[in-house]
Amino acid sequence: MTVNHANTDVIRTHIIKQLAVGDFCSGEALGEQLGISRAAVSNHIKSLSELGLDIYSVQGKGYRLACPLILLDKSKILDLLTVPTDAQLTVLNVIDSTNQFIKEHQSDLSNGSVCLAEAQTAGRGRLGRRWVSPYGASMYLSMHWTFPAGYQTIGGLSLAVGVAIINALNKIGVSQAKLKWPNDIYVLGKKLAGVLIEVEGQIGAACHCIVGIGINVKLPQANLPIDQPYIDINSVITTEVDRNEFAAVLIDELLTTLTLFESKGLAPFVAQWRAADVYANQTINLIIGQTVTSGIARGISDNGALLVETDLGIQAFQGGEISVRPA
Ligand code: BTN
Repeated sequence: MTVNHANTDVIRTHIIKQLAVGDFCSGEALGEQLGISRAAVSNHIKSLSELGLDIYSVQGKGYRLACPLILLDKSKILDLLTVPTDAQLTVLNVIDSTNQFIKEHQSDLSNGSVCLAEAQTAGRGRLGRRWVSPYGASMYLSMHWTFPAGYQTIGGLSLAVGVAIINALNKIGVSQAKLKWPNDIYVLGKKLAGVLIEVEGQIGAACHCIVGIGINVKLPQANLPIDQPYIDINSVITTEVDRNEFAAVLIDELLTTLTLFESKGLAPFVAQWRAADVYANQTINLIIGQTVTSGIARGISDNGALLVETDLGIQAFQGGEISVRPA
């Protein structure tokens, strides 16, 4: 078979699909299929390794993935969705950020539209941090939702999204996931997933939200440049996660959650958030800019503020610039 495309993405997608099967692929065979030299194949392999794909080579045999990989597949995910939706699903190979993709296409998207990618080169985290996004190792998902009644109706949205993720994880067998305010997902004291919600719109008008979710599924063995203890789903359940099934479960949960949130707000999610609170009644440090406040975590208020008992009594904290750490 010969593929006559010079396009880098097409070439790399072809190489990944061959490798994903799990067998050795020789540089020569890949080069013949693609109409490029072995040296060019080797350069593409190097770039794929830099994107986080665990590829090794054995002289005389060729290249092989350290673990077989089931690639994201749009038609499989659509077949597995159970919540009716007319929203668009975009499945990409490599992108800067799925949140950025939604941002650039937001005016054409209906509520619930999703972008998924195999890897991000500029994944965004909360508080201006980077979200490390190796190839095929995680779920990088962004969903678009417009709330017609504007900013005043989206308070607590990120907490409701945290609950949706806990529900999706439960459905694939991860039962011990907890929430750290406002919406980090923790398992065994380490971060499994994070949520970044980006909002645009004028005061008094509809607001357009990008709900960005990163969930570690099966991270590469190599140490990753992540500045806090982290964990992946593969370390906590014995069955292999099919990311297509998981994506469908997660999208279903998000569609249900955001529809309910739009009509009822945070109220239907508060009890579940409190039940999954990782720091309930523990001493924590609250970092707001340069200021650190210590106290005992007392859960969340009905509008989603973090309640902390300090010498001054129980205080409510709200806002995107707050970090919570164990004391
Ligand atoms: C956090 O810092 O905890 C939030 C991380 C959010 C990462 C996800 S990955 C998919 C989406 N696209 C991005 O660029 N960021 C979010």
